[in-house]
Amino acid sequence: MDDFLWWRDGVIYQVYPRSFCDTNGDGLGDLPGITSRLDYLAGLGVDAIWLSPFYPTPDADFGYDISDHTAVDPRFGALEDFDTLVREAHRRGLRVVLDLALNHTSDRHPWFIESRSGRDHPKRDWFIWRRPRPGRRHAPPNNWQASFGGTAWEYDAASGEVYLHLFTRQQPDVNWRNPDLRQAQLDVVRFWLERGVDGFRLDVFNAYFKDERLRSNPFKPGLRAFDRQVHLHDMDQPEMAPLLAELRTILDGYPERYAVGETYLSTPDKAASYCGAEKLHAAFSFDFIRHVPFFPWTPGWIVRQLLRRDASFDRAGVWPTTVLGNHDQRRTASRYGRGEDDRMAKIAMTILLTVRGTPFMYYGEEIGMRNLRLRRSELMDPPGVKYWPLDIGRDGCRTPMQWDATPGAGFSSGRPWIRLHPNAAWRNVAIQDGDPGSLLNFTRQLLALRRASPALQRGEFVPPARTPPGLLVYQRRSPAGTVLVALNFTRWKRRMDLPPGAWRLALGDGRLISENPARPGRLELPPLGLALLDGG
Ligand code: NOJ
Ligand code: CA
Repeated sequence: MDDFLWWRDGVIYQVYPRSFCDTNGDGLGDLPGITSRLDYLAGLGVDAIWLSPFYPTPDADFGYDISDHTAVDPRFGALEDFDTLVREAHRRGLRVVLDLALNHTSDRHPWFIESRSGRDHPKRDWFIWRRPRPGRRHAPPNNWQASFGGTAWEYDAASGEVYLHLFTRQQPDVNWRNPDLRQAQLDVVRFWLERGVDGFRLDVFNAYFKDERLRSNPFKPGLRAFDRQVHLHDMDQPEMAPLLAELRTILDGYPERYAVGETYLSTPDKAASYCGAEKLHAAFSFDFIRHVPFFPWTPGWIVRQLLRRDASFDRAGVWPTTVLGNHDQRRTASRYGRGEDDRMAKIAMTILLTVRGTPFMYYGEEIGMRNLRLRRSELMDPPGVKYWPLDIGRDGCRTPMQWDATPGAGFSSGRPWIRLHPNAAWRNVAIQDGDPGSLLNFTRQLLALRRASPALQRGEFVPPARTPPGLLVYQRRSPAGTVLVALNFTRWKRRMDLPPGAWRLALGDGRLISENPARPGRLELPPLGLALLDGG
């Protein structure tokens, strides 16, 4: 397609830098490590990489607490390594998307250190400071909660005031209403654009602004204190609109730049409302991983989620995103599949890459990496440490990339910062590379098919008509062709009639049965099998 637009029609692969590839044996992945694996990523067939934070960080939230937004943490490399990474990625046709966490900084960021240094410091107002309410000791000014537990206000004895933090107390929220802070933040955006990055993933962007009067949130029933309130006043404020417009103008000053927002507490309508002209290019709606107490993962539920999402995004005239996994979620293959069986992981990969929307693939998803069950004493992630066993935290989805069967899995010659999954010995890139039936080779073939198919990239989503229970069948249709996707969620062999047409098997273990050439064809799917059919 000559109007191929990388962020709309392509596939974005998320790299969690500290777990991808370690080149100096310190057990932490680094930027040269990512560069050394670019051939692998280009060969896989993705179009862009999104790098989770690699900036200097004290690691209170594993990189999402940043002490300098325009530098590389020395443990991950140097700015020169970053430049090399971008150059080498571009040379292979891969775009680079950075993770910008601009809702908060680390409490060791010089801005916060200065802000904290005195009530009269010019940067005091760069963060959100208040006098505690009179009466109870250090009583917070309102009922807001930190999403990782406890009140969102931290008392600072030196100044007798409290500051706001929506995540850990080491992540003070900045005050976007302060014009100097606002300029400084937008300068961060310009800094990276000038260094050649292609786009940004904006961490919890919709929480940048808080209610001017800091009103308390209304009550609702919920499990944790954070869930027991409607987040009416601590996020999604109207002041976001002019800021997004300004940000978009900056991005549009460069060709084909992109921003995708991580919509906090998202719904499809909310996410879509932040996208379009003078707004973001895209925002995550997390239709498959958020806001459901459990994951039904049945054909009916999946179709409902897709239709609901597409309706919201179509109304807004913007393009959706599809996310099955990321560094905050249990591994996709563990969530939807059973044990080490990869058949459901192939179905999930097919959904990710064949429904409408830009797919975001989390590192290791292509080899079906499983969530690691860590012992309590091994937990590092703040919500896990605080809420175990109610919440086991996110460490289990952040284990080292499994490249080969050597003791360090090809990730590191040293001791990895987090334990390797024991299945690394047999579940890894090297072994799957040599196995024609592996999830890795399936993913490569599917990506190649997608790349060559305007229908899979941009086609209309035609939901299932009537299909036998347990099957998910849909079409993607464009003037240039039609693709039919059939997925068997059951553990039995299934047959189905195909719609009229000359269907050809493009990928999968399904079988076309031509019983009577005068009648429409039939498709047979093995248990947990799948088929992509090309309708020409
Ligand atoms: C969302 C990020 O995805 C998550 O990893 C992080 O902990 C919070 N934002 C705070 O930055
Ligand atoms: Ca390293």
